Amino acid sequence: MKHDSRCRSIVASNVAKNYGDILALGPVNVKIDEGEFVSVLGPSGCGKSTLMLIIAGLLEPTVGFVEVNGKLLESPMTDVGVVFQDHLLLEFRTAIQNVLLQQEVRGLDRKVSVQRAKELFKTLGLTGAEERYPRQLSGGMQQRVSIARALVHDPAVLLMDEPFGALDIISRTQMRHDLERLWMESRKSVVFITHSIEEAIGLSDRIIVMSNSPGRIVEEIRIDLPRPRPAYLGKYPEFAKFADEIYKTFEALGVYHFK
Ligand SMILES: Nc1ncnc2c1ncn2[C@@H]1O[C@H](COP(=O)(O)OP(=O)(O)O)[C@@H](O)[C@H]1O
Ligand SMILES: [Mg+2]
Repeated sequence: MKHDSRCRSIVASNVAKNYGDILALGPVNVKIDEGEFVSVLGPSGCGKSTLMLIIAGLLEPTVGFVEVNGKLLESPMTDVGVVFQDHLLLEFRTAIQNVLLQQEVRGLDRKVSVQRAKELFKTLGLTGAEERYPRQLSGGMQQRVSIARALVHDPAVLLMDEPFGALDIISRTQMRHDLERLWMESRKSVVFITHSIEEAIGLSDRIIVMSNSPGRIVEEIRIDLPRPRPAYLGKYPEFAKFADEIYKTFEALGVYHFK
């Protein structure tokens, strides 16, 4: 499935978005290198989802532009998998049928896709869930199915908008690890949107920290912790340093008002 047009880099230049008269985002400059795992961390309403939709080519910026491999993005990105906070699975399709929707819509080889779907189910701890309907799965399993759906066509880019936001902290921690392992095997370019400082540090090569609305980039932090990273990140002194830096930034911005 690999070919020359695969993603090398994503660059968003001077991107801003207005909804009517209201500035919702930016302007921001974002660059994601090939195979890089980048988190976008920011308070609710700062424009994270807006930024992700613009990067996906699903929403037109009011100002600025996006380039993929140096080429202007003028229509929705295709070599991409997208995961949202809600699993958005079709209730009348089984788990594997939901994943194979990608194959049907994209006209991919059935056999190859079934094989890859089965492998993903195994990697994601979903073995045995193939023939179950979404309502028969736990929240964590539903979200795992939606991740399988985003990866079954082996896209070069993975865009995730608070994918673990609806999960409890224990499931979230496990999902963080499983996603990291998957990413280590395939090294896709990932944009991971979150409001969890710990999750961002646990997953990222680099964290982009955004201000309150209208979101601008206020800080970028390179996370050079070894991988795979453990469940409890507090064992690294660097973790405390990164987290302290981000909390201080949020306090300075007035995101927090601790007295
Ligand atoms: N379609 C829309 N129409 C009008 N306002 C919107 C729309 N989508 C988002 N907004 C507003 O834009 C701002 C940024 O939204 P969003 O990108 O969803 O932020 P985040 O994902 O960081 O919570 C918010 O104030 C939100 O209410
Ligand atoms: Mg959002």
